[in-house]
Amino acid sequence: MRKEHADLSVILITGASSGIGAALARFYAARGASLVLTGRDRERLEAVAQGCRALGAETRTQLIDVREREAIGAWIRETDAQTPIDLVIVNAAVNGGHPSGALEAEATAFETADTNFTGALNVMLPCVTLMSGRGRGQIALISSLAAYAPLPDAPAYSGAKAALLAHGLALRQKLKPLGVRLSVVTPGYVKTPMGGVIKGWRPLEISADEAAARIARGLESDRDVIAFPAILAALARGALLVPEWVRSAGLHGFRFRNRHRR
Ligand SMILES: NC(=O)c1ccc[n+]([C@@H]2O[C@H](COP(=O)([O-])OP(=O)(O)OC[C@H]3O[C@@H](n4cnc5c(N)ncnc54)[C@H](OP(=O)(O)O)[C@@H]3O)[C@@H](O)[C@H]2O)c1
Repeated sequence: MRKEHADLSVILITGASSGIGAALARFYAARGASLVLTGRDRERLEAVAQGCRALGAETRTQLIDVREREAIGAWIRETDAQTPIDLVIVNAAVNGGHPSGALEAEATAFETADTNFTGALNVMLPCVTLMSGRGRGQIALISSLAAYAPLPDAPAYSGAKAALLAHGLALRQKLKPLGVRLSVVTPGYVKTPMGGVIKGWRPLEISADEAAARIARGLESDRDVIAFPAILAALARGALLVPEWVRSAGLHGFRFRNRHRR
């Protein structure tokens, strides 16, 4: 493993069967990490794992739904007992919204909140307990710029990502003296299957590999918030400071609808 990633020997990534999670898995595989990858789709998860093994990384997989709190907590504790987790990337999420751009359905909103916020906590909190107990470890929470600039076409997504940002930044302060680093990642538009279902303007979109490299750089320097691309991040964060009618008018160009997913 290259020197700058020397302390990242065991990395757990949720949502590794696709998009940014898969790109992060390949990124760290190429640098010699030992990977534990999770997702729900057996075929796609195994294909990503094979790619990582081809890059020389020891790679284990686990099919698991992040909403299953008991199961995922037990599995994380078991995995950590075998090989302590150095870095957990809490990445699995769904985008919610409505296919026609209509009001998000109640069931979709609950599924989105359960996956993107409660599901994230189901993964993060057992790791917080284990890592703080041994005084070592790193946590990356994949939020979104939608945490700053809530999107009318993805209300539950925006709310869950904002909650994850707030929870993460609050915890970061508590974890620091305990030897655990925590960063919140707020990407803009990234070209992935999740991004691909969105019909709408996606300014400054970057590839999943580019996003993975930016996330890894931010984690390496223990950034509190890893936000990109810089211009969109500044606009989204600045939008919190202007009156709501200005912000919501400015968001008009960001309306979107979901295409049918694979
Ligand atoms: N793409 C963007 O423009 C963008 C922008 C900002 C933030 N993000 C964030 O980046 C992260 C990755 O997104 P992506 O674009 O790479 O999306 P993606 O390609 O759709 O990948 C999502 C991953 O999450 C997993 N997942 C979804 N629901 C799950 C559940 N209930 N249990 C376990 N795994 C589940 C999926 O696994 P299976 O398919 O195997 O079920 C898949 O591996 C997400 O947190 C997303 O919110 C993305």
